[in-house]
Amino acid sequence: MVDHHLTRSREFVVRVITEVLNDKVTIAQAWSRVVYQSEGREPHDAPWCREMVAGILRYKSRLDWIMDTYSHKKKPTGWTRKALYLGIYPLLAQEAAIPGKIVSEVVDFIKEKQGSQSGDFVNAVLRQVTESLDQWKSWKPSENSGEPEWLAWTGLPEWLWERLSREYGREWAIEFSQTMMNRPEFYMINRDGKTEKLAGDPGESVGSDSYVQDLSSQALVKRVHETLVEKGIPEADFLDICSAPGGKAIGLAFLGHSGIAMDESPKRLELVRENIKRLGLAEKIRIYEQKKIRAEDQFELVWVDAPCTGIGTLRKNPEIRWVRDELAVEGLIKLQRKIVEDSLKHVKPSGFFVYSVCSVLKDEFEHVAEIMDSRDAKLVWKITIAPQEAPHGDGFQAGMWFRSP
Ligand SMILES: C[S@@+](CC[C@H](N)C(=O)[O-])C[C@H]1O[C@@H](n2cnc3c(N)ncnc32)[C@H](O)[C@@H]1O
Repeated sequence: MVDHHLTRSREFVVRVITEVLNDKVTIAQAWSRVVYQSEGREPHDAPWCREMVAGILRYKSRLDWIMDTYSHKKKPTGWTRKALYLGIYPLLAQEAAIPGKIVSEVVDFIKEKQGSQSGDFVNAVLRQVTESLDQWKSWKPSENSGEPEWLAWTGLPEWLWERLSREYGREWAIEFSQTMMNRPEFYMINRDGKTEKLAGDPGESVGSDSYVQDLSSQALVKRVHETLVEKGIPEADFLDICSAPGGKAIGLAFLGHSGIAMDESPKRLELVRENIKRLGLAEKIRIYEQKKIRAEDQFELVWVDAPCTGIGTLRKNPEIRWVRDELAVEGLIKLQRKIVEDSLKHVKPSGFFVYSVCSVLKDEFEHVAEIMDSRDAKLVWKITIAPQEAPHGDGFQAGMWFRSP
């Protein structure tokens, strides 16, 4: 018997994935669109749908490779291809999956959508995948494999795979890609500075005295704080230029600093306001619209946590690999450069400037290092956090500079 709730959930997953891939929007945006198109109704089993959407987008190039291996006459397209994602992903990556059940449910689903011919085709492909499941689960290309197979196995788009291999070397790019095939873990920091792992995906806030923040992001805040303490500024006044949803500002405030949080987006600034209120930090962090800051306002610490490709966050945002492209990188670099140039005037003499991006692409960091060199600012430290070295944190690049008195 066809389970209609399950059919609707599968349909929801396919529609979200299609929006992401066709329109290059984030999962969150695609999700909202599909809910809107469904008269405002969330899918019946939202957590299952979230896991399927994220997993399929993480594994997409492997799933494509596997289904094409068994599609001899014609490569599947449209709903048939998406139905195969729905079948192969759980077979490959969900521990509790029962192969026979998955195959028959997905075949019923595609029969209902596209008729019995598509059903027979999907059935034949899924049965072959099931028979070779152990081989696919432990699949790793060999030295003799061609580049297309390596590329499919990495789970990265070609431009990103080539760029990371060029910038860091092939071994590094392989380790990065395999780390980014994992599901994310979430951590929160509480007012005592303690970090705790969360059981699931919490969104951006969890309670009145704690805040969900990526581990690498927490490490950066701590490093900035330690440098300030070392330089005799244990309670700095800061300006967080790109603050939403508030992670860096909140981290700094928990550690004794106080200042101003700004953001270009008034809507996202509201998130900062809500988070700060919930955490009782309203006295330590003031929210400013951009126009409110005057050219002559200066701070002991100015932090630009810039908008970036987010390539360091692929575990949490698996769609980014299919949404961003090289053109987007160039556009973001221009924006980052402008934000940095506009921000430097707000650094007090003998004050500090921090620039960070949750991306490991070198071009998203090095142009700022060049600006700082040309301004005669002194580099205090810079760091690249590779996600494979910080197993549960995002990838980051950051630097801290000192402005001469
Ligand atoms: C990486 S996010 C910041 C994350 C935040 N610092 C945190 O730790 O939670 C980048 C932010 O920059 C903002 N942004 C984009 N363009 C901007 C601009 N020209 N000036 C200021 N903020 C901007 C975006 O709205 C976004 O909220």
